Amino acid sequence: MKLLHLTFSPRGEESESTQLSQAIVDRLCSQHLVSRIIRRDWRLHAASAIDADYANALANAAGNNGERSSSEGSMEESERLICELEEADLVVIGTPMHNFTVPASLKTWIDLVVRINRSFTITPAGKVGTLKSKPVYIAIASGGFFGSDRSRQPDFLTPYLKAILATIGLHDLRFFSAQGMALEINIVKAQRQAAHDQATNIDTTIAASRVA
Ligand SMILES: Cc1cc2nc3c(=O)[nH]c(=O)nc-3n(C[C@H](O)[C@H](O)[C@H](O)COP(=O)(O)O)c2cc1C
Repeated sequence: MKLLHLTFSPRGEESESTQLSQAIVDRLCSQHLVSRIIRRDWRLHAASAIDADYANALANAAGNNGERSSSEGSMEESERLICELEEADLVVIGTPMHNFTVPASLKTWIDLVVRINRSFTITPAGKVGTLKSKPVYIAIASGGFFGSDRSRQPDFLTPYLKAILATIGLHDLRFFSAQGMALEINIVKAQRQAAHDQATNIDTTIAASRVA
């Protein structure tokens, strides 16, 4: 079984979302025969913003009559990232909340993997993903709270990830979060512990049946 571990915080090992995602990876590895882990730390592999050839190819894709577009630059990076996602049986994503939504690094990854006529097609019924569904574990860290009675901010992160990943065929998303990481130290410790407890108690039986 292949596991793809993607992290999008700029904070390296200090990152709460990276640490939480690592706890999920450890739990999955303890429960499944994981033969290979592909680790992509976006700080190390960061692609620059998408290039003009890529933007032009996607803009014209719906009416393209078989003209070839560039297979270099962002298109080459896009192909590599989509293949990586296709080959994985399990995906674990660690991401911070930045300004109520995904950080720019994760948005760049999305711009590269959500590609018309490759990871999704357009049908009369709407966009249909081409990827085989697989469990995607998403570890989020935020300074405040979101998605509950304690929230004082909107959450554009989880609804956005649900919508955009469903577009390419990934419907089985499992969310974990370390919230309140910018609050007082007692809250940070309690919230961090609760998030890690949740990660180490993942119901891997369900995961096992879905990836079999
Ligand atoms: C640019 C930026 C924007 C942020 N915006 C939010 C926000 O909208 N809501 C929130 O709860 N925390 C916000 N934070 C705080 C981070 O979510 C928090 O520090 C979290 O622990 C970061 O995750 P990491 O430790 O994995 O990097 C922001 C932090 C940065 C750097």
